[in-house]
Amino acid sequence: MPGPEVEEIKSRIDIVELVGRYVTLKPAGSHFKGRCPFHPDDTPSLHVSPEKGLWHCFGCHAGGDAIGFLMKIEKLSFPEALSRLAAELGIELRREGEGRARLLQVNAEAGRFFAHELRRPSGKKARDYLLGRGLPEDAWDRYRLGYAPEGWDGLLRALGRLGVEALRELGLVVPGERGYYDRFRDRVMFTIADDQGRPIAFAGRSLAGDPKYLNVPNTPLFTKGTVLYGLDLARDAIRASGRAVLVEGYTDVISFQRAGIGETVGSMGTALTEAQARLLARYTDRVVIAYDRDAAGEASALRGLAILRGAGLRVDVALLPPDEDPDSLVRSHGPGAAREVLSSTLPFHQFFVEALASRHDLSTVEGKERALAEAKGFWPEIRSLPLQHELARELASLLDLREEEVRSYLRGEGRPVLAREDRSRPGPEEHFLHFLLEGKIPEGVLEDLDLREFKPEYRPVVAKWVELWHGGRKPTAEELAGALPPEDVSTLTRLALLDVSFSDEAQAVEDAVRRFLYLPRLERQIAERQARVRAVEAGGDPAEAARLQAEIRALCQERLRLLRKR
Ligand code: CTP
Ligand code: MN
Repeated sequence: MPGPEVEEIKSRIDIVELVGRYVTLKPAGSHFKGRCPFHPDDTPSLHVSPEKGLWHCFGCHAGGDAIGFLMKIEKLSFPEALSRLAAELGIELRREGEGRARLLQVNAEAGRFFAHELRRPSGKKARDYLLGRGLPEDAWDRYRLGYAPEGWDGLLRALGRLGVEALRELGLVVPGERGYYDRFRDRVMFTIADDQGRPIAFAGRSLAGDPKYLNVPNTPLFTKGTVLYGLDLARDAIRASGRAVLVEGYTDVISFQRAGIGETVGSMGTALTEAQARLLARYTDRVVIAYDRDAAGEASALRGLAILRGAGLRVDVALLPPDEDPDSLVRSHGPGAAREVLSSTLPFHQFFVEALASRHDLSTVEGKERALAEAKGFWPEIRSLPLQHELARELASLLDLREEEVRSYLRGEGRPVLAREDRSRPGPEEHFLHFLLEGKIPEGVLEDLDLREFKPEYRPVVAKWVELWHGGRKPTAEELAGALPPEDVSTLTRLALLDVSFSDEAQAVEDAVRRFLYLPRLERQIAERQARVRAVEAGGDPAEAARLQAEIRALCQERLRLLRKR
């Protein structure tokens, strides 16, 4: 939950002036345009909207708000960017100084509360759970594990004397209809510390039921994507061994560290961010990734690896046995298996290309095109010249193309290989989403939206929009940007800043709804009946077939009517 200062900074900062310090911006309608500083840009692909307080690059798909721009261009963490802007604007940040020290004390108290609950009679099932996972009492102390009791106000009653406002700011209690209640109930608790070992956040694992892990939201002490779990305990081992081992989960960190791989840190599930990469680069120049096999090859993980490379780190990837994560590997095959997995790794470029090969069918031209288009998406992150060379070489040999051709395509020269996947050309779906973000889609249409009607990449944005809308009112694009994980923000800004020109807005909204929702729905109804006709005819039921044919005719007429309206 961003504090009041964040809102004030956002409302007072002039995004055009801020971006204009780094980029020459020219007015273009309600936007400003300039050359994107985050990738080689011949055309002005960077759009800035003073009205929405957002920016987006239609070339490299980066985007966000003013704070995000400053973070990216100056390579700052969220708190760093915030305090710089605050200083410029003369706004005093409460989180700094006293406020922060006090919140850390409250978190330390909360940690003691969870630790105590773990040792009480009612904590037996949590104790049994941890013991069952091979975590004895010495691990509870070292990793500051705990238990959040059942009921709604255990923590609230124990720590209420510290002030409910502080508990709320730290995400430990949430407001309900009848006052505050505990966020964590009947969960095994993990303490998240900063690199100095100060408790900045908590996560709770359910003993039964969903969600498996629950984390505190962003608070004055904790910003998602800027912390590495276990770094405080791993620092010395990282320096001594000259490398860090990066895993995904809390239990992965604990199991690997306990197996003797003290240099292990956790990215905490989400895609790795630049802030995390910079944090690691303070301690080492070499990272070994040990994600479970499916996760490592996913596009979001590959992007994370490219970000690590971009921060100047050498990156190798360990190949875990299928269906094992680092924790399960240690538990079922012992510490030796972990060491073995870490001793045979693939260098980043080789892994990268193999992951592309495993996800696309390279025996077809289309598969090759898709693999190449995906590689192109990562290219802005790959800044090292030798690495660019290695990647292009591997790709070229895999795709049976000339290295120079591959390189010039990846650099954005020459014709795009795959015209159909040209994301920059907005269609009815993009127009619909643009109007959704503007709050222009009528309620009646909103009520029967189905997430599956949207491309998968848009679903997180739509889902969050709908969630906030159900919470009371239509969110603005800027509010939505604040509520989404970084990986979805650029999708959002692209849609919000879409250049839709129309002479009659109401008509344009109606067109978007008709072309994106109503026509495809009709097409689906027609296709579904046609399939039934075929089945019914094969089964010898002419009366039913005739009835379906009549329905199809009516639906086709309706489709024609909709098409003519355009
Ligand atoms: N995670 C999260 N919220 C979720 C799911 C996952 O924050 N709802 C993060 C946690 O840091 C978690 C990591 O992603 O540790 C990896 O998730 P997953 O592989 O699903 O869990 P494991 O760590 O393997 O958990 P466990 O072994 O306890 O089942
Ligand atoms: Mn696990």
